[in-house]
Amino acid sequence: MTTGLDQTLNRLVAEAHAAYRSANPVSARWHADACRVLPGGNTRSVLHFDPFPFRVASAHDQVLIDVDGHHHTDFCGNYTAALLGHSPATIQAAVAEVLNEGWALGATHPREVELAQLICERFPSIDQVRFTNSGTEANLMAIGTALHHVAAAGADQERRAIGVFDHAYHGGVLSFGPHGGPHNPMNVPHRFRVAHFDDIAGLDELFQPDLACVLVEPVQGSGGCKPATVGFLQELRRRCDDTGTLLIFDEVMTSRLAFGGAQQRFDVMPDLTTLGKYLAGGMTFGAFGGRRDIMAAFDPSAEGSLTQAGTFNNNIVSMTAAITALRHELDADTLGEVNARGDRLRADLQSAFTEAGIGAWVTGLGSMLCVHSDDDRLVELYFHAMLAEGLYLARRGFMALSKAVTDDDCRRLVDATAEWAAEISGNER
Ligand SMILES: Cc1ncc(COP(=O)(O)O)c(C=O)c1O
Repeated sequence: MTTGLDQTLNRLVAEAHAAYRSANPVSARWHADACRVLPGGNTRSVLHFDPFPFRVASAHDQVLIDVDGHHHTDFCGNYTAALLGHSPATIQAAVAEVLNEGWALGATHPREVELAQLICERFPSIDQVRFTNSGTEANLMAIGTALHHVAAAGADQERRAIGVFDHAYHGGVLSFGPHGGPHNPMNVPHRFRVAHFDDIAGLDELFQPDLACVLVEPVQGSGGCKPATVGFLQELRRRCDDTGTLLIFDEVMTSRLAFGGAQQRFDVMPDLTTLGKYLAGGMTFGAFGGRRDIMAAFDPSAEGSLTQAGTFNNNIVSMTAAITALRHELDADTLGEVNARGDRLRADLQSAFTEAGIGAWVTGLGSMLCVHSDDDRLVELYFHAMLAEGLYLARRGFMALSKAVTDDDCRRLVDATAEWAAEISGNER
């Protein structure tokens, strides 16, 4: 049955879409062209929103300028990858300089060594590391590495189950919905066992004799910015130790939460870690690494070693960008500031929703935040209302602050949120 409130929300969504259409004629034309050659006009599913996404002409610091000339203050931060803001000058200069020396050499070079040193010094559990082109690839490699290590250690080829958690996202081919919910048809065909995230009681079901490894985000990012409790991560560590199961932390997003990543912040050490996103200053990047005895399987001079392929694994552009980001941008103070700003923003947004008495709330940790509601139309309305104010977050309510986002930017978002929430609450009554 459709209630009065339902009708109102449906009407408001239709009005928001209509207003957006008329404000974005150039993006609309690009969308029509895009739909002829890209399915749905899209080549990264998460970037689609209704009625069509704006197309960006250029991006600097915290501002995206679209083809209709709108300036958007960017709270999405390329889903955590743009931690340094867009087109950061240090990265630009470093990359421009090395472009005279070649960029994908088909040979080894000193920069990959320098970057590996920086990563091993920084993340407490990483003794050795290998590079990939994306976080997805890093997770695929880490899983393969763990399965190999556990099978070799126990001479048990049947021990191949991988523990994961509901709502976890480790890449488009490693994504898990609600517990017992529909399986993602794009997932790689591993033997996954899905448990409830942050539920210690549910771990009995997970830790069966065929379990080889557990892959977990210390704070679920795409799954709605839900931090695990320290106790949950400690219990995972304890059970993995007791059973010879390998613990993999997916720190593709969460490594931004402290200088040494979430593992340092929570003081729980995994056996393997995966990295990506912001670490190369916004350039394409991924890495997996961990205990020396596990990573040793990739030593090509050893008999029967594992192979890791990838034409662009050690490309000079990503290596240089990452070295520059780690050496000159991603110090503990900078990360501390961005994460503290995120904590303040989350509290202020929550107050705005609470004061208005509407059914929306904010979760997250540090610079990772997400706005939720039981009614998806509310999030859709919130997203469009902020967009109309020149404030861009991900359609699903996700935000990842970059260091370019200022306190003033946050204040604008909080004020716009409070105004919107008051208006919606008037409609709800
Ligand atoms: C936690 C996590 N792991 C892995 C990935 C995949 O990284 P990429 O998009 O670089 O493949 C993502 C991307 O959003 C992520 O959030």
